[in-house]
Amino acid sequence: MANSFNNAKERVIELTKIINEHNYQYYVLDDPKITDAEYDILFKELLNLEVEFPELKDKDSPSQRVGGVPNASFQQVTHKTPMLSLGNAFYREDLEAFNKRICDELDIKQVEYLAEPKFDGLAVTIHYVDGSLSLAATRGDGNVGEDVTHNIKTINSIPLKISELNSKGAIEIRGEVFMQKDDFLALNEKQAEMNEKIFANPRNAAAGTLRQLDPAVAAARPLRFYAYSIAFEDNLRIKTQDQMYDLLNQFKLPTTSYAKTVFGVDGMIDFYNEINALRVNLPFDIDGVVYKVNQIKYQNDLGFVSRAPRWAIAHKFPAEEAESEIIDINVQVGRTGSITPVARLKPVVVGGVTVMNATLHNEDELKRKDIHIGDHVFVRRAGDVVPEVVRVIKEKRPDEAKPYVMPDKCPSCQQKLVKEEGEAVLRCLNGILCPAQRKQGLMHFVSRKAMDIDGLGEKIIDQLLDEGLIRSFSDLYKLKKEQLVNLDRFAEKSADNLILAIESSKKTTLARFIYALGIRNVGEATALDLANHFGSVESLISASTNLLEEVHDIGPTVAVSINNYFMRPSNIDEINKLLGCNISWPAIEVNAKNKELDGVIFVLTGSLPTLKRDVAKQLIMESGGKVSGSVSKRTNYVVAGEDAGSKLDTAKSLGVKVIDEAELLRILNKES
Ligand code: IVH
Repeated sequence: MANSFNNAKERVIELTKIINEHNYQYYVLDDPKITDAEYDILFKELLNLEVEFPELKDKDSPSQRVGGVPNASFQQVTHKTPMLSLGNAFYREDLEAFNKRICDELDIKQVEYLAEPKFDGLAVTIHYVDGSLSLAATRGDGNVGEDVTHNIKTINSIPLKISELNSKGAIEIRGEVFMQKDDFLALNEKQAEMNEKIFANPRNAAAGTLRQLDPAVAAARPLRFYAYSIAFEDNLRIKTQDQMYDLLNQFKLPTTSYAKTVFGVDGMIDFYNEINALRVNLPFDIDGVVYKVNQIKYQNDLGFVSRAPRWAIAHKFPAEEAESEIIDINVQVGRTGSITPVARLKPVVVGGVTVMNATLHNEDELKRKDIHIGDHVFVRRAGDVVPEVVRVIKEKRPDEAKPYVMPDKCPSCQQKLVKEEGEAVLRCLNGILCPAQRKQGLMHFVSRKAMDIDGLGEKIIDQLLDEGLIRSFSDLYKLKKEQLVNLDRFAEKSADNLILAIESSKKTTLARFIYALGIRNVGEATALDLANHFGSVESLISASTNLLEEVHDIGPTVAVSINNYFMRPSNIDEINKLLGCNISWPAIEVNAKNKELDGVIFVLTGSLPTLKRDVAKQLIMESGGKVSGSVSKRTNYVVAGEDAGSKLDTAKSLGVKVIDEAELLRILNKES
């Protein structure tokens, strides 16, 4: 026993180290060294050991990122030193004045600045005590913020333990939490589907996520973090701002790769122009750049005025909102048949880009914002990508302005539109028979994260559809070079290239294949979970909604979508055709199940003494059992912990066997 405990202890330490290293490779360096499946196996091994030996579960363990119990409210946190804001500059003169003040004050001729992007997110401070993450708080009003430790811990790029700070006492790392543009768009798509709140921009989405009481919600919405300062660092002897960044990197914290030292006003403006040019292509929103005096000694000499440091300034980009008029409103058909109203605008330049269309999301949003055709509106480029109408300028509404009535037929295939129960989105259910959906589906199928067929853009897909050369996914694999060379835009070489790209896409992964099918509510992450869980298309196709819900992160809505997709004979037919074209992927090992608990139904209630609910659920499912949310006569066991609620009463009244955690572990053969 002692021996197995010691072995387990060693292995837990080793696994923690390995997992943290892979987290760093994946989330900070964006350069994973192992596959997701390999990572999952390591993680599971750690979870199992921590269940077997609860005393080995450290508060800094990678398993502790998503705590089980949602918070009831936010605690206030008073900042030891205020979290400041920055002064703003818009014009060269503002920078000249800023630079001159510093030269005068320090009595120097030229100032070295560290210049970097200004991230459009939220400032947070993260406390480490002797290297362990102990608390994280929002900026709030600068003096008092809110405790968001539970959500910050879900950000995988933030280390829970920094060994370099082991004996350094209390240190705070400050930086910006934000959401990437692509994650924001995916989140809003999901929110629209589920009739949940639409976020106006990535910043609001990040703020809404940080303000979640339940860390599981935050964990499902990917937040990112860039560190930009270390507070209370006196004993770290940092001389310059850029050294501070080197040190943050040594601590394995993410920092921006765009920071650069520059000299004087000309240096600042060159940097501003450089970043402004990169801006649209950055994966995240920025609203300007920041210049900071590089020498920390100078920073201390300069100090603060009111709420802003005198050693730093934000150089902001021009506003991203502009006024325009709605010329017309019509609808677009999405890949899964969703009907989205779109405003056609009088062209207007917003943040340097001419905008002619803006999304209105769905009918409810249209009504909520009370948008009429002919209205004067403010337009904003949300997340730098999809422009949207922010609000109507009611005072300017012309007499002839008229409300928009959503169509009752699909503009592409004329099929009657439906609104499914509980949904905000109007839908065309004609699937691949609807030309608009067929085209969108094909574009998704060939996209980079799906089958990754290079060189098949929208125009070529249009052409292939118009010529009747393709109707479905599998038709792509039957295309011949001779058919392509005769088409506009094609020559010998480009036809060869496309045929080659189609051919090489046949070697893929099961996850990509599942994602490529374009099943409603199945994004990249869910496709990966499905692939790892089921291991083959056949098992996935035959899975019931109950079985689907056993997959990590899959709830009833997604399970039903998947099930509906595979219930359609035309979909199965298409999958068979694709498999007949020799599409293949490496085999996936699915964990052999201990079938002893096959079909046994558990219900968990109350908090268990050592197992987190997620962990208990996972262990039961790994043994072939099921976890249900409510007690019925079919329930085999109710596992009751402290403060068990009405489920315990129901169990008693139905005569269902009630067990405790120890008994559960015994059933699972996990008792220590
Ligand atoms: S340094 C003394 N660097 O801007 C304040 N702030 O307007 C030091 N921000 O609350 C802040 N990107 O949320 C700094 N690269 C960056 C930043 C940045 C965004 C935010 C931060 C701060 C706000 C001030």
